[in-house]
Amino acid sequence: MTINPITADGSVSPNGTAPKDTAPADGTPTVELRGAGKAYGNVRALHGVDLAVHPGQVTCVLGDNGAGKSTLIKIISGLHQHTEGAFLIDGEAVRLNTPREALDRGIATVYQDLATVPLMPVWRNFFLGSEMTKGPWPVRRLDIAAMKQTADTELRAMGIVLDDLDQPIGTLSGGQRQSVAIARAVYFGARVLILDEPTAALGVKQSGVVLKYIAAARDRGLGVIFITHNPHHAYMVGDHFSVLRLGTMELSAARADVTLEELTNHMAGGAELAALKHELAQVRGVDVDELPEAAELQVGAQRN
Ligand SMILES: Nc1ncnc2c1ncn2[C@@H]1O[C@H](COP(=O)(O)OP(=O)(O)O)[C@@H](O)[C@H]1O
Ligand SMILES: [Mg+2]
Repeated sequence: MTINPITADGSVSPNGTAPKDTAPADGTPTVELRGAGKAYGNVRALHGVDLAVHPGQVTCVLGDNGAGKSTLIKIISGLHQHTEGAFLIDGEAVRLNTPREALDRGIATVYQDLATVPLMPVWRNFFLGSEMTKGPWPVRRLDIAAMKQTADTELRAMGIVLDDLDQPIGTLSGGQRQSVAIARAVYFGARVLILDEPTAALGVKQSGVVLKYIAAARDRGLGVIFITHNPHHAYMVGDHFSVLRLGTMELSAARADVTLEELTNHMAGGAELAALKHELAQVRGVDVDELPEAAELQVGAQRN
């Protein structure tokens, strides 16, 4: 497998291009949420969320644990239904009942625990559940040659070069497995690709591999929803950034309107740390300026 490095400015070279800020001429998002929310009984997991996914763009959804990220993608991928606001596909209000309905509309989701069979070959996993067959009924059989050939072509088209498609998928690295899942979704006609924390369990190099294929999917015209709690990963490929906190959207900004530093600050809970500092100052009866900077607070608090 070959790896193209991600350059310092966040673009991917040599076959990727830098993220763009411009929406397509038509302008209608493939997927859109307007004031959408979801309650599980009394628990309001998500509230008043606006989100737009455009072809050829990467929309990053960031947030801490419990922020509502999974709830958000479960609505879009047809696992759960929203209980407030609207969910639109190609500008049409919808309510999906099953993941199959989402797939039929071109929305594919790659979950963190990839649904692969580790001991089966790569090509077999590529076609899992949608195998190619040949011959008339009742002697239809798997068209192994065609599946191998197609898997090879499709993986190469995404820039994924594996030595041997017969090797069990379990022998690939985590990043490679994610890449195969992305190529698979592209081949089976996805227009919107949802990735739930694809880099969360990966090291730096493997994360780079996955980010590269996120860029490749974007360059093939897909709208990508990239869920992560890593602002650095998000900023490498993102066109738009949405930060969730406690179920509401704290920040929604195009790439041109937010810096990596601001994004990191939002994720680190800069506002919450500042509030905590004021509370601490009151408790200790000191002036707030006598306390260390927010970033040093944790250490300072431990000492007392
Ligand atoms: N099936 C469920 N039933 C009740 N509460 C849930 C359910 N799923 C998630 N929640 C709650 O909704 C909130 C958001 O969770 P989730 O969407 O999983 O966040 P994230 O993926 O950002 O960690 C959390 O408070 C969580 O406990
Ligand atoms: Mg989650």
